Amino acid sequence: MSLAGLGNNDLRLIIFGGKGGVGKTSCAIAAALALSEKHKTLLISTDPAHSVSDGLEQEIGYKVVPVQGAPNLSAIEVYADEALSRFIKDHQQELRKLLDTSTNLDNQDIEEMLSLSIPGIDEVMSFKTIIDFMEEGAYEKYVVDTAPTGHALRLISSPKLLDEWIKVAARMRWKYRYMITSFSGSYQQDEVDAFLLSLKKTVKRIENTLRDPAKCEFIPVCIPEAMAIAETTRLIEILGKSDIVARHMVVNNVMTSDGCDFCKQRKAGQLPYLEEIRDTFSALNRVEIPLFPCEIRGLESLKKLKKFLFEEQPF
Ligand SMILES: Nc1ncnc2c1ncn2[C@@H]1O[C@H](COP(=O)(O)OP(=O)(O)OP(=O)(O)O)[C@@H](O)[C@H]1O
Ligand SMILES: [Mg+2]
Repeated sequence: MSLAGLGNNDLRLIIFGGKGGVGKTSCAIAAALALSEKHKTLLISTDPAHSVSDGLEQEIGYKVVPVQGAPNLSAIEVYADEALSRFIKDHQQELRKLLDTSTNLDNQDIEEMLSLSIPGIDEVMSFKTIIDFMEEGAYEKYVVDTAPTGHALRLISSPKLLDEWIKVAARMRWKYRYMITSFSGSYQQDEVDAFLLSLKKTVKRIENTLRDPAKCEFIPVCIPEAMAIAETTRLIEILGKSDIVARHMVVNNVMTSDGCDFCKQRKAGQLPYLEEIRDTFSALNRVEIPLFPCEIRGLESLKKLKKFLFEEQPF
């Protein structure tokens, strides 16, 4: 089996996720390289560890840059922290007015509330950046590398969290609106209403994209070890509950060599886990990738990984 199905023209957003250190970044870069052979592709890193820069051996930053040696591929780093501070900065006024008009808080309370994070907002804002790119439509494929599982799960659950917050804010506003109408007989929609509506629209846009199985696919990356299997099981359960489709799975670091006692033992040790993976995740197309003799860094080794991911398996 292979990831060749990702070439389907309708599929636009491909997200790699999984436990720490299992090969998410390597697989995301290799997949982006493969897809860029036929489709204009944007590789997006949401992992603040700058690992895409390391993997590609090229500096990637907050602005889209072309990937050297891959004519149809560009890359960018999109981080929740940075997206959040931009959001707070851009919407200070609306947030302050929302709190000011809808609650009995004094100025100091409002300042404190503003410094607290709105649940899910940072992840939603980084996702919004991705969706904005998709709506601009400059690329055909968007490949996302995430930080370890907890982060991917936060990313997935963030629209729901923010939606809850918007509901509370809308209720506060409703009371304010009722009060104004009672006093003056009418109510004019203001910038706070417009702001809440646009947040709500952002949540909907994100959910619609994530939940569209034709457009978006999540690819769990796992290795044949107990903890990675347990984490992948949880991840797939949560994806299912969130209506996000997973059709493929990468099983990385598979021992193939029998050359020495050490390799023989490692290989034998992996066998029960590989069987468990095949049983537990039988519904997914599993692509098994051998453990390479050296780390995957730079275009040459990424191209080797790409071959394993996208061509039928030699073993
Ligand atoms: N099949 C493989 N064979 C050998 N080395 C590999 C293989 N896959 C990944 N690696 C190496 O393992 C290390 C971790 O890989 P990578 O950074 O892709 O994992 P990750 O899941 O993104 O990690 P993190 O959770 O820290 O983001 C890297 O040094 C990479 O070069
Ligand atoms: Mg990584």
